[in-house]
Amino acid sequence: MDYKIASISGDGIGPEIVREAKKVLEAVGSRFGHSFAYEELLMGGCSIDAYGEPLTDETLERAGKSDSILLGAVGGRVGVDSWYELPPDKRPEAGLLKIRKGLGLFCNLRPAILFEELSRACPLKDEIVEGGFDFIFARELTGGLYFGERYTKEIDGVMTAVDTLKYDEREIRRIAVQAFEIAMKRRKKVCSVDKANVLDSSRLWSKVVAEVAKDYPEVELTNMLVDNCAMQIVRDPKQFDVILTENMFGDILSDEASMVTGSLGMLSSASLGEGSFGMYEPSHGSAPDIAGQDKANPIATILSAAMMLRYSFGLLEEADAVEDAVKQVLKDGYRTVDIMSEGKTQVGTAQMGDLIAGHIR
Ligand code: IPM
Ligand code: MG
Repeated sequence: MDYKIASISGDGIGPEIVREAKKVLEAVGSRFGHSFAYEELLMGGCSIDAYGEPLTDETLERAGKSDSILLGAVGGRVGVDSWYELPPDKRPEAGLLKIRKGLGLFCNLRPAILFEELSRACPLKDEIVEGGFDFIFARELTGGLYFGERYTKEIDGVMTAVDTLKYDEREIRRIAVQAFEIAMKRRKKVCSVDKANVLDSSRLWSKVVAEVAKDYPEVELTNMLVDNCAMQIVRDPKQFDVILTENMFGDILSDEASMVTGSLGMLSSASLGEGSFGMYEPSHGSAPDIAGQDKANPIATILSAAMMLRYSFGLLEEADAVEDAVKQVLKDGYRTVDIMSEGKTQVGTAQMGDLIAGHIR
């Protein structure tokens, strides 16, 4: 099959990690007989430099016409890069929010997997993580605090800032359905995370999730308060299968989860809408401090490309081949600097990509 992929490298380490993911897709193409064609598009700081805004309407439209999007990372350093002198809705990250919303990508899947080979990079005690863990976030991505009304103004002589956390039942239902569908293909457990002891939006959240659960009698549903969840992720990560949560909680908890897997450089993510179209990007940021130095770990982006093969293109065997190749290279002892440990062989970004691609061919 021929696939048309919108390639958005973005800023910082974005271009170098996307390059390695393409290398790996190339290998998949030659082994399994597919072709991947790329349309290069700008988003984030590089788009501000070129067009004065982080994502133009034209770019959004072109991205939406592709079969799916492979994204690196966007953003720079606050206080260093001039992009951050612009108003908030013109900064690099605004491009990311605009593309998520504009393409209806409400379902953000973020796997948190402890690779056996990397257990030494995990900061938790051996007895907690023995045997590894494997859970996934279904994070709502186009609602909540990120997209509610916000403003900063003087009210009665006092500077006041307001952000609004709003969810309607349809938004909650569609992400809940996704979480239960995913759970059906896994260990059939959904933990819905909220702050229902305080927030109205959370009380509606848990009510709607409980309704959706009735359609999935095989799936065990639990509810957990977000503060407790933050604690449970470090206390006993093995208890989780699918964690379902709203936008902001998911943002915070997924960074925490990535840390307990050993490195943010390992975690992939998929942002999906109603159909098969999706946007695939590493869970980490653009790491401008190491950009262009061949230090970045491309594995999160490569595993995101594997998610693209699986979720958007239905190429399961191909996705397995990529994931197996990553495991094999780790087993062979190759590490980028972020996951380096004694006795292993340190490699750069490009060599890591070559090694993984080599296992696929
Ligand atoms: C993420 C990032 C984004 C988010 C930022 C860059 C807007 O942290 O994808 O987790 O908060 O969603
Ligand atoms: Mg985040």
